Amino acid sequence: RFVSNFIEDNRYMYLVRGLITTLVITFFAVMIGALLGFIIAIIRSTYSKTGKLRVLNFLCNIYITVIRGTPVVVQLLIIYFVIFGSVNINKIFVAVLAFGLNSGAYVSEIVRSGIMSVDEGQFEAGRSLGFNYNQTMRLIILPQAIKNILPALGNEFIVLLKETSVCGFIALEDLTKAGDIIRGRTYDAFMPLIAVALIYLTLVIIFTKLVNYLERRLRNSDH
Ligand code: ARG
Repeated sequence: RFVSNFIEDNRYMYLVRGLITTLVITFFAVMIGALLGFIIAIIRSTYSKTGKLRVLNFLCNIYITVIRGTPVVVQLLIIYFVIFGSVNINKIFVAVLAFGLNSGAYVSEIVRSGIMSVDEGQFEAGRSLGFNYNQTMRLIILPQAIKNILPALGNEFIVLLKETSVCGFIALEDLTKAGDIIRGRTYDAFMPLIAVALIYLTLVIIFTKLVNYLERRLRNSDH
């Protein structure tokens, strides 16, 4: 009883639960965003290289324009209150969907720029060796593209982690909301909000180190 009271009443538990919510949303949104981003980038590159997939390319362009042309908070609100407005739906699922769809548009442009950064000669070399279009893309172009875009992809993860702080708009208790709840209940603004900021900062620093390490390893494998 004492333990369960402690866990329920303790203000730090808000932060812990909020942190877990933030991490869960970010993790799954990044997965969706990366998957979507790669698919769209490949569709659009294929269209510009070969002229195939015209309709899909057109749909992707609309998707990218709409997603990048509207704030992610508005997208989140629309998905929650308009699209799923009349059904009882898990808010974390809504947030994952909103941030995943949002991230996909940005990731697709990152991946596309990576594909374009690989010299055209690599493509011609692949085709000369007898690889077909798909094999060239998968075995020669994409591995080099991914190496080039790793810093930008890492940045996208960081953006997404911080961007999930707006999910309090649909009353999701993420890390930011948790800090704000504590602020409201204790009349102390300084401690909870600074704590929240420090937690985000720590996460971002750890993640940046991780990406730098990965970058170095990929660069070393060049030699
Ligand atoms: N804050 C901007 C917006 O509201 C950026 C959204 C997320 N950006 C990203 N790279 N996933 O639209």
